[in-house]
Amino acid sequence: MGVEVSVMKFLKFGVSAVAIGVVVAVGGGYLAPVVFAPRQNISVNAADPALIERGRTVAQASDCVACHTAAGGKAFTGGRAMQTPIGVIYTTNITPDKAAGIGGYDFADFERAVRHGVRKDGAPLYPAMPYVSYAVLTDGDVRALYAYFVSAVQPVSQPNQASTIPWPKNMRWPLGWWQALFAGHRSFTPPREATPEVARGAYLVEGAGHCGACHTPRGAAFQEKALKNGPGGEFLSGSNIDGWYAKSLRREDVGLASWSQAEIADFLKTGRNAHTAAFGSMAEVVEHSGQHFNDADASAIAAYLIGLPARPGHAATSPKGEDATTAKLYDSADHSPGALGYVAQCAPCHHMNGRGTPRLFPALAGNAVVVTDDPSSLIQIALAGGAMARTPADKTRPSMPELARLDDRAVADILTFIRTSWGNKASPVSPGNVAAMRGAIAHKPLDYVPGDAK
Ligand code: HEC
Ligand code: HEC
Ligand code: HEC
Repeated sequence: MGVEVSVMKFLKFGVSAVAIGVVVAVGGGYLAPVVFAPRQNISVNAADPALIERGRTVAQASDCVACHTAAGGKAFTGGRAMQTPIGVIYTTNITPDKAAGIGGYDFADFERAVRHGVRKDGAPLYPAMPYVSYAVLTDGDVRALYAYFVSAVQPVSQPNQASTIPWPKNMRWPLGWWQALFAGHRSFTPPREATPEVARGAYLVEGAGHCGACHTPRGAAFQEKALKNGPGGEFLSGSNIDGWYAKSLRREDVGLASWSQAEIADFLKTGRNAHTAAFGSMAEVVEHSGQHFNDADASAIAAYLIGLPARPGHAATSPKGEDATTAKLYDSADHSPGALGYVAQCAPCHHMNGRGTPRLFPALAGNAVVVTDDPSSLIQIALAGGAMARTPADKTRPSMPELARLDDRAVADILTFIRTSWGNKASPVSPGNVAAMRGAIAHKPLDYVPGDAK
């Protein structure tokens, strides 16, 4: 009997301890946003035309439209599917519609959502919304954004869609703890000894441009490993996003080591240069955001990027190998399946010498896209094809055909061939790699094609 009582007591104690723990965890998760993101009661003259115009450029630099618009949907009405590690979430309607959109947001509500990821009702937002980057936007830029959204965007009464994340994973309180750990209050500080141009570039890259959301590797809790350049060199050192490899933007061998400042600026504004053409999510970035940068801002971003040193061990030292490939292809002297496949499927556009045609067909020889360790982009573009960004800079918009009809072995052979030809030196791609990508893209919420009418 005595034993039973103490077991009961112990159980009761255990149950109440767990209950208290749950209350603290859940309560704290909802409290964190309140503590870390107090309301900023600043008044904004949302009808000021100059402020609205400035807001338009900040919105373009921030690429709000790319995420907050579904394929074929009206601008900013949300509904675009985004894959997260626990399920699909949908972006929300951020038009100033009172019921469906953010018409009920005052400036303080808006500021908390954009810079701190807190919804009007106090619930924390998923970091798929890049508030971790937007945190460094200046007060002036956030005010301008607000004026633009409430005064220049048409209200549309399109309701939001619920996520596919099942209960209990769809509870938002753990996000509050996540934010407390990884999305603290911060403001922009320019890199040491930066010229005004480099400081402007850093501000655009770290903040509005949220380049790190795609180009910085993530840690175990999905947090970006660095939010600005530091001694570890992890910022913008390359990351895989939706099966596209957003390469290193540092001065590294598979980064921007061989690009000039002008070439980087050109790529941001037009999606093309002599080295490459933007594809996948980067084509969208160029189309909605990059092309709208004025020349000074595009150049400032480039000035900042070329100053990012290589990580230890990634310096661009490897001399380009000799081209033994072109002559063999012209002589029909290489009968390997990869070479034969290349000549039949790829050479019409990328040419026997792998050099393509500037601004039309990217070069494959010496191209970082081709030789980077993570071959995801290569495999995905071969299977799913790609279309260049649409900008006023080029009249033609060639596309890369999808080659999903080729089997895994044939695709692997061709990709291995281009990774080891014309002086390129990279590891082989296996049929297993191709099969895995085929599976991944079959399940991807692909609801957007660059160039969709808005
Ligand atoms: C990379 C994609 C992405 C970009 C870029 C983006 N957002 Fe979002 N945003 C989201 C997602 C996803 C949500 C919903 C998150 C959730 O439900 O937790 C969201 C939610 C919001 C909300 C909360 C609305 C509500 O009531 O649910 C606001 C406000 C917002 N975004 C404004 C903006 C603005 C302004 C910009 C540009 C400065 C922007 N977003 C850029 C993905 C994005
Ligand atoms: C939505 C994700 C995303 C965002 C945001 C993004 N990028 Fe990219 N970026 C990619 C992907 C994916 C690639 C690889 C495809 C390609 O080369 O076009 C890429 C490629 C690039 C390249 C080409 C590199 C090379 O060696 O070929 C440059 C330069 C670049 N991005 C710069 C930027 C800058 C600067 C920003 C911020 C203003 C930015 N990106 C924001 C996804 C993104
Ligand atoms: C009809 C012409 C055409 C054919 C055939 C073609 N491509 Fe492409 N390829 C393109 C175009 C155009 C792009 C740029 C696409 C973009 O930017 O979205 C491209 C882009 C690429 C890229 C990305 C390079 C970069 O820097 O942007 C790779 C890698 C590539 N192709 C490999 C191949 C392979 C391998 C084959 C054969 C299996 C092939 N292509 C067949 C036209 C073609």
